[in-house]
Amino acid sequence: MNIQIFDSQLELDAYAANLFIDTVRSKPKAVLGLATGSTPIGIYAKMVEKYRNGEVSFAEVTTFNLDEYVGLIPYNDQSYAYYMNKHLFDHIDIPDTQTFLPNGMAEDLEAECVRYDQMLLERQIDVQLLGIGHNGHIGFNEPDHALSGGTHVVRLKEATREANARFFAAMDEVPEYALTMGVGSILKANSIILAVRGADKADIVKQALTGPITTEVPASLLQTHPRVTVLLDREAGRMLG
Ligand code: F6R
Repeated sequence: MNIQIFDSQLELDAYAANLFIDTVRSKPKAVLGLATGSTPIGIYAKMVEKYRNGEVSFAEVTTFNLDEYVGLIPYNDQSYAYYMNKHLFDHIDIPDTQTFLPNGMAEDLEAECVRYDQMLLERQIDVQLLGIGHNGHIGFNEPDHALSGGTHVVRLKEATREANARFFAAMDEVPEYALTMGVGSILKANSIILAVRGADKADIVKQALTGPITTEVPASLLQTHPRVTVLLDREAGRMLG
């Protein structure tokens, strides 16, 4: 694994944004795997800045997001569709028809998972962005004795709902279910960027990168992938040798 530790969040954001932009410049039809949460916000802001400076065009890019809550309409400001529009898609030249998220409002969620997997099978993700949960989740693949390869419906752990409650008005508004890309699809990406910030993630970063490979720490499966770049701030990397 290529592990980079940065003194400031701005440096981390710029480095990650450049990895995406270099990919798109060398391959205008690149397929990008995207994440939500607090970590990517600065990365997307930097990508928008570079687009506005005329350094890159996303006109031919396709994107696939990792996950979406079940039961939130795309106009709900807590849905991941809303987040992506707000932080990235509304500010760059990517057509709406080339941005994909699992549809958490689908009547038949199982059929929606099959549909999403079919789209992922037809394209190879060039670069997949990931964050990590305190319990080691990637996407919404929560720790378990076994993990799903493909897109699936997941019941969110209470700890994950509590961690995400900061974005909602009240805990009972945090959805209980989500759709997530499976670890099989994540690991099929040509390359992966794992970005992590903050002292509260230092322990799980250490476990994921240097501990045993186990489904109880889903991010530890990244150790099996040949092209993972880990971007950490000093706090998140402080427990690494
Ligand atoms: C988001 C996602 C999650 C987050 C993780 C970290 O699409 O898939 O796995 O990456 O929960 O979230 P933050 O960045 O808010 O700490």
